[in-house]
Amino acid sequence: MEEKRCAVITGGNKGIGFEICRQLALEGVKIILTARNESRGLKAVEKLNASGISDVIFHQLDINDPTSIACLVEFIETRFRKLDILINNAAEIGIVVHENEFRAGGGFIQMIDENVHLLTNVVEEPYELGEQCLNTNYYATKRITEAFIPLLQLSKSPRIVNVTSIYGNLHWFHNEKLKKELEDIENLTEGRIDEIIQWFLRDFKAAKLRENGWPLTSSAYKVSKAALNAYTRLMAKKFQNIRINCVHPGYCATDMTSDTGFLTAEEGAKGPVMVALLPDDGPSGVFFNKTQIGSFSSVDLNKL
Ligand SMILES: NC(=O)c1ccc[n+]([C@@H]2O[C@H](COP(=O)([O-])OP(=O)(O)OC[C@H]3O[C@@H](n4cnc5c(N)ncnc54)[C@H](OP(=O)(O)O)[C@@H]3O)[C@@H](O)[C@H]2O)c1
Repeated sequence: MEEKRCAVITGGNKGIGFEICRQLALEGVKIILTARNESRGLKAVEKLNASGISDVIFHQLDINDPTSIACLVEFIETRFRKLDILINNAAEIGIVVHENEFRAGGGFIQMIDENVHLLTNVVEEPYELGEQCLNTNYYATKRITEAFIPLLQLSKSPRIVNVTSIYGNLHWFHNEKLKKELEDIENLTEGRIDEIIQWFLRDFKAAKLRENGWPLTSSAYKVSKAALNAYTRLMAKKFQNIRINCVHPGYCATDMTSDTGFLTAEEGAKGPVMVALLPDDGPSGVFFNKTQIGSFSSVDLNKL
């Protein structure tokens, strides 16, 4: 009998991550549901168990904590000897939302650069939150990916799914040279992505976002997901035996969006689950807009 595949999902206690756990379990995958908070994670597992899903175990994971990552890797190695699927779902939005005004203005739909002058009472983007957003969404995701590569290499069908956002699309950037650089996967390096992030943070702190063509709304989040997309492509090139892709789940009603999305978390999880289960000859290094392959650098505003 075929051995069950096992999957680690980060930020599995709620929202899209929880739904990914549920749907992948229904596809016969053994789930390691992780959460940074033990009690929230255990409650999520109980909820799945109560709905009849039993092959789910909890392990604590704060992706910002290298010791927590090392502890999870050791657990997976001891218990399963390999990892088949890593779903990097955990992320932060990097802004403070004034709920009433944000909802009244249509949620994230109003977060376009042309509206930036209208958003002063709707959202705030403090530097510290932006920096934390980049640390979680990019640097921590990169760290956990690197930590699991050796165990993924032991799988017959290894997969990495990076849950990204349409906000990581280069469409939202206004610096043509930078866009070209982030798109030029043949010449881009991880070191250069890091330099670009540090350049963004300096400009963010010095209020020079407009001057250098950075996104003006949800800026750190957009940069974090654009960096994640570029990293996904570099990793796919480097590890050709692993299918490594990124997926925009769609605009979903979750805590991250203050429940303003058009889709449910259940609908949002469909893309990441489909990409996690791609066949061995499936694509790698590509962007999926929900379940369809899309572009890294142009956006169809009707398909958010
Ligand atoms: N919702 C949307 O419309 C939308 C659109 C595009 C992309 N996405 C992406 O979809 C993914 C899931 O988003 P969501 O809407 O489901 O958000 P959510 O409901 O806010 O859930 C985020 C999850 O990430 C976890 N998390 C945050 N920082 C963490 C850390 N340092 N270590 C471990 N876990 C951490 C949270 O844990 P706690 O519960 O402990 O905070 C939570 O489980 C994210 O990558 C997001 O960028 C969402």
